[in-house]
Amino acid sequence: MPSSEPFIENLLAQMTLEEKVGQLNQVNPGPGLHPDMIRQGLLGSVLNASCALAGQSTEELDDVANSNRLQRLAQEARLKIPLLFGRDVIHGYRTVFPIPLGQAAAFDPDMTEAAASVAAREASSEGIKWTFAPMLDIARDPRWGRIAEGNGEDPLLGARLAAAAVRGYQGSDLSQPDRIVACAKHYAGYGAAEGGRDYEAGEISESTLRDVYLPPYESAVRAGVGTLMSAFIDLNGFPATANRHLLTEVLRGEWGFDGFVVSDWESVKELVYHGVAEDDAHAARLALHAGLDMDMVSNAYSSTLAASVRNGQVPVEELDLAVRRVLRVKQRAGLFENPFTDPKRRARDLLRPDARQLARKLARESMVLLKNDGDLLPLKDFRRVLVAGPFVPARGELFGAWTPNGRAEDVTPLEQSLRQTAPKDMELWFTDKNDLALHLAHEVDAIVLLMGEHPVRSGENCNVSDLGLPPGQAEFISTISALGKPVILVIFAGRPLAISQTMAHAQAALYAWHPGIEGGAALAEVLFGLEAPSGRLPVTFPRATGQVPVYYNHKNSGRPIGLNGKFPTRYGDLLTSPLFPFGFGLTYTTFEYTDLHLDADRLRGKLGIRLKVTNTGRRPGREVVQLYTRDLVGSLTRPVRELKDFQALELLPCESRMVDFTLTEEQLAFTRLDGTRGTEPGSFHLWVGPDSQRGLQAAFRL
Ligand code: BGC
Repeated sequence: MPSSEPFIENLLAQMTLEEKVGQLNQVNPGPGLHPDMIRQGLLGSVLNASCALAGQSTEELDDVANSNRLQRLAQEARLKIPLLFGRDVIHGYRTVFPIPLGQAAAFDPDMTEAAASVAAREASSEGIKWTFAPMLDIARDPRWGRIAEGNGEDPLLGARLAAAAVRGYQGSDLSQPDRIVACAKHYAGYGAAEGGRDYEAGEISESTLRDVYLPPYESAVRAGVGTLMSAFIDLNGFPATANRHLLTEVLRGEWGFDGFVVSDWESVKELVYHGVAEDDAHAARLALHAGLDMDMVSNAYSSTLAASVRNGQVPVEELDLAVRRVLRVKQRAGLFENPFTDPKRRARDLLRPDARQLARKLARESMVLLKNDGDLLPLKDFRRVLVAGPFVPARGELFGAWTPNGRAEDVTPLEQSLRQTAPKDMELWFTDKNDLALHLAHEVDAIVLLMGEHPVRSGENCNVSDLGLPPGQAEFISTISALGKPVILVIFAGRPLAISQTMAHAQAALYAWHPGIEGGAALAEVLFGLEAPSGRLPVTFPRATGQVPVYYNHKNSGRPIGLNGKFPTRYGDLLTSPLFPFGFGLTYTTFEYTDLHLDADRLRGKLGIRLKVTNTGRRPGREVVQLYTRDLVGSLTRPVRELKDFQALELLPCESRMVDFTLTEEQLAFTRLDGTRGTEPGSFHLWVGPDSQRGLQAAFRL
């Protein structure tokens, strides 16, 4: 094989204008996909989905025979350029892992990488060579349904998980048959949609964009991500899909990205509705010029670009640039050598036992213990326990949004998992009927309530104006708790819910997100104490809907709480502090932090930080030790805390370990008043602790 660029240049030199435009054209199966289009070389990519919200569609469009058939048509074309098949493989394929927000709660990049690599193996066994993942949008507003698909509110956690996911999907050699091209989406600022309403406009200052929203994308690019997807959003008055600053200046100019950018579903055409383009031709010109290479299903490129080149409105060099990028990714993916999928693979690659084991471990690690009064959990010493709530019969409901390839029948029913794992002398009663539950509750010693959101309530355009539990659930919890029996609340959800009042009715609460295919088994192991939960919140939990946006790395304000006494920032009817802070999570043991020591009082290039963490309880446990800093004075205001690093430790009872962090000057850099990135000398605070509100504190200077 010739080295990549001569090969691409040679191909490009042979291409007609129509063939070039064809490479930038992505369609979905259906009437828009005619075999002749492929034979004539007028198609670059097929999206294995039949509608927007493609991920929700379970149509079998992704089978091997189908993709091989289409690739054969591509081989009949003059230049035999292979097709690239893309699909929303968001948190697993047939083996469904916890939703990304749940995975983020594990604070475990190695697990995220391993899960992505299983997803790549499974998806590629069915002819898919490109996933529209990872979703890297920072979200500060849980009303937005897509918060389920991302890593939460923190740029550092988001950046680490971004790189991990890219490594997991792509491996070190994209041309390996079990690797797929990743797509960092939705670039950029999509999570800032006003009011949490998907597709709305948003405004983000350049410094917040760069310091908060972009780091996960930069990290994905540095990890070698093959593609990015532009966001639907109108950001700061201009749609991201045609935003040259984002797509060219920052992405290519500053970060050196050389893969391609695909639009989101019809978002090139939507430039007309946004009101920045007169018609499809204008929209296509704007987007191409901005650096948007592939048009997802809007046909604006395929129907107008050739004419725009011919009439001189689009320089052919601009078109060539985009075509080169698409061909480059196809070449890196090994598609020119081998466009076909071995039909025998799926039998050995789907749902392997080791994949299910991984899904179970990740589900366990993702569950966050929010409350455990009197060490009620793990459940023991109860003779009879009632398990009630709408999730009792859940199977596919455990998957969460965007799982087109998950199958409910692959999920062991919760009832079966709980029965298998419960202590032998504990009797379990199950019902999902509220009135029956209230009746049975009189006869039992403890009550486990499986509550929360159905997956259709989260994901794309599944926004809510009320972050409370779905209608009726809070009332039911309050009624059943009035019997005075111990209540263990398990919440399945795609977002942080505002559950202040409900928390008062439960003695223990476990946040299980949508935990995936092994969610039932993982829950059973955690409830009955075979394993301990160790998840940490990747996002702040509000006390009430009206409190959002509420996030830990906010600015101090001129009237912070506790300072100006009478006039601090506040609500008249609600505490300003969150219900649970970012980073928070309990487990079945306790940890003590002592002996914090900095190796200098001044950071010169780097600073060594050391402390002792001790397991002070009676069980082994996993602790996520978090390092935060605050830059006290800046040319622009600085967040009150920023996560700079974290480490997970597994400690046996009474075991102590010294934990070391190294803080570098680069980690203190931010976007300054003059727009440049760098540090500013001055005083800093530092905390090492179990969440974003607690921890040992020290100070240093830079
Ligand atoms: C979503 C994307 C998704 C695409 C293809 C769009 O509606 O916004 O996240 O990748 O559809 O399914």
